Amino acid sequence: MIEEKIKRKQAKVGVIGLGYVGLPLLVEIAKSGFKAIGFDVDEKKVAELKRGKSYIIDISSRILKNLITQGDVIVTTDFSLLSRVDVVCICVPTPLSKTKEPDLNFVIDAADRIGQKLRKEHLIILESTTYPGTTREVVLPILEKSKLKAGKDFYLAFSPERVDPGNKRFTLKNTPRIVGGINPRSTKIASLFYSQFVEKVISVSSCEVAEMSKLLENIFRCVNIALVNELMLLCDRMGINIWEVIEAASTKPFGFMPFYPGPGLGGHCIPIDPFYLSWKAREYDFWTEFIELSGKTNENIPYFVVSKLSRILSSKQKSFCGSKILVLGVTYKRDIDDTRGSPALKIINLLLKEKAIVSFFDPYISNLEVNGQKLKSQNLTPELLKEMDCVLIVTDHSCIDYEKVVRYSSLILDTRNVLKNFNDEKIIPI
Ligand SMILES: NC(=O)c1ccc[n+]([C@@H]2O[C@H](COP(=O)([O-])OP(=O)(O)OC[C@H]3O[C@@H](n4cnc5c(N)ncnc54)[C@H](O)[C@@H]3O)[C@@H](O)[C@H]2O)c1
Repeated sequence: MIEEKIKRKQAKVGVIGLGYVGLPLLVEIAKSGFKAIGFDVDEKKVAELKRGKSYIIDISSRILKNLITQGDVIVTTDFSLLSRVDVVCICVPTPLSKTKEPDLNFVIDAADRIGQKLRKEHLIILESTTYPGTTREVVLPILEKSKLKAGKDFYLAFSPERVDPGNKRFTLKNTPRIVGGINPRSTKIASLFYSQFVEKVISVSSCEVAEMSKLLENIFRCVNIALVNELMLLCDRMGINIWEVIEAASTKPFGFMPFYPGPGLGGHCIPIDPFYLSWKAREYDFWTEFIELSGKTNENIPYFVVSKLSRILSSKQKSFCGSKILVLGVTYKRDIDDTRGSPALKIINLLLKEKAIVSFFDPYISNLEVNGQKLKSQNLTPELLKEMDCVLIVTDHSCIDYEKVVRYSSLILDTRNVLKNFNDEKIIPI
C-alpha cells in the first residue's frame, strides 16, 4: 500500500522540473528521508546539479552534493527512471504565450512522460501554478490514457508551491501546505505525503479549490500592489510622499495591510497568474475586469519610472541622450539572483532606446542581456558613482553600501524607498 510506503519513507519520489520550485522541493524531500529522483530536460542544468552545484542561493551546494554522494538524490534527464518512483511532483513552468494565454505545454509534456510509466498506486501531484481545472481537465485525461483509473488505481492531486525565494523566515518546511485531490482518497494520500516534510498540511475538498487558492494569494498581491501604484501616480502629481502616506495608514492596528509601490512587478508568478484566471473565466462568460486592470496598471509602472527620471534630469538641464544612468539592482526583488520578468529589464530597454548611457550594478548578477545588448555589472566605486548623471535604484538588495551611494552620487531616483533614512535633497523617492 502506498500509505505504508510513505509513512515508512520507503516510497521513492520523483520531481519533474528542477527550477526555483522543484530543486528546493527535491532537496527537502531527500533531507526528510525519502530517496528522490529529480528530472529535467535541461542537460546543462542537470550536468551542473549532478556535480552538486546548486544555482539557487537558498539551496546549499554542500547539502546537495552530500545528498547525491550518499545516493539519496539522483538528478537526471533520463525519464525512463520514472518507472522507479511511487510519487511524482510536477514543477514545470506555466508561462504565458505571446498573446497572454496559458501555455500548458510543459505540464502536458510532463504528464505524457509520467503516463508512459504509470503504475497502480502511483501518486501524482501537480505543483505548477495554473488555472482551476488543469489537474482534472488536462492532466487526468493524459494519465488515464494508460487505462488506469484516476482516484482508484492511481491518485492525483494539486498542491500549490508557496516558496518565497530569499525568505529566510518562511521556508518550504514551515510554510503551511494546501492539498486538494481529484477525490477524497487522492487528497488523503497526497496530504499524508506532504505531512512527512511540511509542518502543517491543509486538506481542501477538491483540486479546483487548491488551484484557485494559489491564484487568490498571488492575485491578492497583484491587485493591492496595483492599488498603491495607482495612488503613487496620483501622489506624484499632487506632490505628496506616498511612502509617508502608507506609513501613516499602517498605524491602524486593524483592517489595513501595507503594500508598497515600486518600479513594476517581476518574477514568475504575480505578473502572470491574473492572466491565467482571466483566460479561464472567459470560458464561463465572465470578465475579470478588476483583476485585468491591476495587471495593466502594474505593467505601466516601468514607463512611469522612466518618465519621472526624464523629468528629474530636465530639472538639471539634462536629457536622456548622452546621460549616464547607473541602475542599482536588476533582480525582480531584493536578495535573490533571479532577473526573470524584472522591471529593470524593461526600464533599461526604455533608457537605451532614449540613447541614455546605461550601466548597472547588482551583487547577484554579473551579466545581463537587454534587447541584444550585453551589459556587465560594474564595480560600485566612488569614481563610478561620481561619473553618473543619475543613479536609479530598482532593487533594494540589503548588502549594498547605501551610505557610499548617497555620499558619491549627484542625483538618485529611489523606487524602493530604501534611502528613507537619509535626509538629502539629491534623493528623489518615486
Ligand atoms: N519561482 C517561484 O517563486 C514560484 C513560486 C510558487 C510557484 N511557482 C510556480 O512553479 C512552477 C515552476 O516555476 P519555477 O520558478 O520553478 O520555474 P523554472 O523555470 O525555474 O524551472 C522549471 C524547470 O522545469 C524544467 N522543464 C521544463 N519543461 C520540462 C519538462 N517537460 N520535463 C522536465 N523538466 C522540464 C526547466 O528546464 C526548468 O529547469 C511555475 O508554475 C510557477 O508559476 C513558482
